[in-house]
Amino acid sequence: MSRDGGGRPELNCAHSVTKDPAMLRSSRRALPLALAVVLGLLVAGVAPASAAPAAPAALAARTVDRVGGADVYSVAIAASKLANPVDGTGITAVVTSGTSFLTGVVAGAAAANLDGQLLLTAPTALGAATAAELERLAPQRIIVVGNSTVVNAAVETRLRAIQPNLVRIGAADLYATSILLAQFADASSVVIAGGATSPATLSAAVLAGSQGAPLVLVRPSDTAVRADLSGLFTTAGTSRVTVIGESAAVSASFANAVTKRGIAVTRVRGTSYAKLSAAIAARFSAPGRAFVMSNTGYALAVGSIPLAAASGAPVIYSTAHCASPQLIAFASAAPVARITLLGPVTKLHNAVGTLLACQSLTKASSYWVVANKKNKLNPVSYVPADLRLPAVKRTGSHLLRKAAATSLEKMNAGSVAAGAGRVGLASGYRSYPTQKALYARYVRTMGQKWADSQSARAGHSEHQTGLAADVVACSASACGSIYTFADSKQGTWVKANAWRYGFIVRYEKGYTNVTGYASEPWHLRYIGAAAAADYKQGGFHTLETYFAYRAAPGY
Ligand code: DAL
Ligand code: ZN
Repeated sequence: MSRDGGGRPELNCAHSVTKDPAMLRSSRRALPLALAVVLGLLVAGVAPASAAPAAPAALAARTVDRVGGADVYSVAIAASKLANPVDGTGITAVVTSGTSFLTGVVAGAAAANLDGQLLLTAPTALGAATAAELERLAPQRIIVVGNSTVVNAAVETRLRAIQPNLVRIGAADLYATSILLAQFADASSVVIAGGATSPATLSAAVLAGSQGAPLVLVRPSDTAVRADLSGLFTTAGTSRVTVIGESAAVSASFANAVTKRGIAVTRVRGTSYAKLSAAIAARFSAPGRAFVMSNTGYALAVGSIPLAAASGAPVIYSTAHCASPQLIAFASAAPVARITLLGPVTKLHNAVGTLLACQSLTKASSYWVVANKKNKLNPVSYVPADLRLPAVKRTGSHLLRKAAATSLEKMNAGSVAAGAGRVGLASGYRSYPTQKALYARYVRTMGQKWADSQSARAGHSEHQTGLAADVVACSASACGSIYTFADSKQGTWVKANAWRYGFIVRYEKGYTNVTGYASEPWHLRYIGAAAAADYKQGGFHTLETYFAYRAAPGY
């Protein structure tokens, strides 16, 4: 999957300074779905099957793309390139610090309201890549958001060299700055969020930006309407306020104070980030597209706020390695033809775009259970319910859970068909007592240090899950040892192809500091075909990193 490089025409009409609500409204219409599908297919590097019009069928196929980048600056640049494919179109560029999430969020809403772009800088130095993108955009105006502690004078000077038509919007604090930014929006309707760092605030910025409304931040402790906000309400004739989050984020007293002014207040609730972002998403009308931010890197998505707002589509919060139930529900309920992942693949896996449902990482019977030196199985005496003997060559009566056994059989057939020879099983399920005895024998014969580098203590072994297979190279008559597997034809083939059958090589060379074990090229772990393909595509090397779990070098 490559970074989304599709040019999108819907932004082009609204690069004017003056706000024309009719123009903004039309500019924010989402692309026709069929066109989005085609663009997405091209982006994904897959040509449409035929040139014949196939819109209804195409709609059934969901397109996944990504606004990638390793850091917040490069994601913003990637979003900028997508939103502004044509160089030098003279938009308004909004620039703020990439190290201040909430300032970025309010600046992002302002950029959306200006049909402009948000770009990010380090507080004291403008990065070369951001400078280059600004040069490419050739903005007709730059708005710097935040006071000089957010973006210093040296950066401002540097930005002036790119475009002297520069204004700085920066009050003493973030709350006041957010109110000043309302001048770029239509504040007859205002979105208000609490000033705590929360991914839902990013979702709120996209909602505000898609409606042409300002995003105002208030302190969770605010119980009254502060003077500058009161002034905004009066000047703009605010008639509607959307409050984001529970009363811990924006207090009930504050909401009451707004209501008392004759303003209609709607509170969007959600007791988790995923639920709240989905509740915000429900306020978009027929978006046809969903943007997704990651629980492990949502701040990276800040620069995508104007792109999402211009697309009229929400940004939904998800677990990094699987689609949150809220994302699945959203994408299933509405005709969402396109899912755009925000950030690098390490922070938001491709599997999220395919709506792979999350499984437990702690339940012993889950295909995704993490058993390592920091996580023992629960209960420690766990015995899988669906063990069976796989029909492959074995060095003993080794059992595997049904799905792993079936996959191993298919893998053996695949290896044979590819001319790499038979793949056999040298160890599968090991009970708690078996593992205990095995580990004790290693300690007795080789010492504890060596034992711990090779063998799990009882209750900590993947073998007890019935999902681990120690594989060996076999002929029709005999099997080799696990220690010669890596250098066998089968070893080479399995290393490259195990993922196709739902297995990963669990203990790779060079990752002892994460897994706690020396390299074991023979130890395969079943996690299911979709996850194993995702693991491979994402370039992961340990299950700990894949599931954003802590490293487990020791007990
Ligand atoms: N050899 C692996 C680490 C185990 O004992 O589970
Ligand atoms: Zn093993």
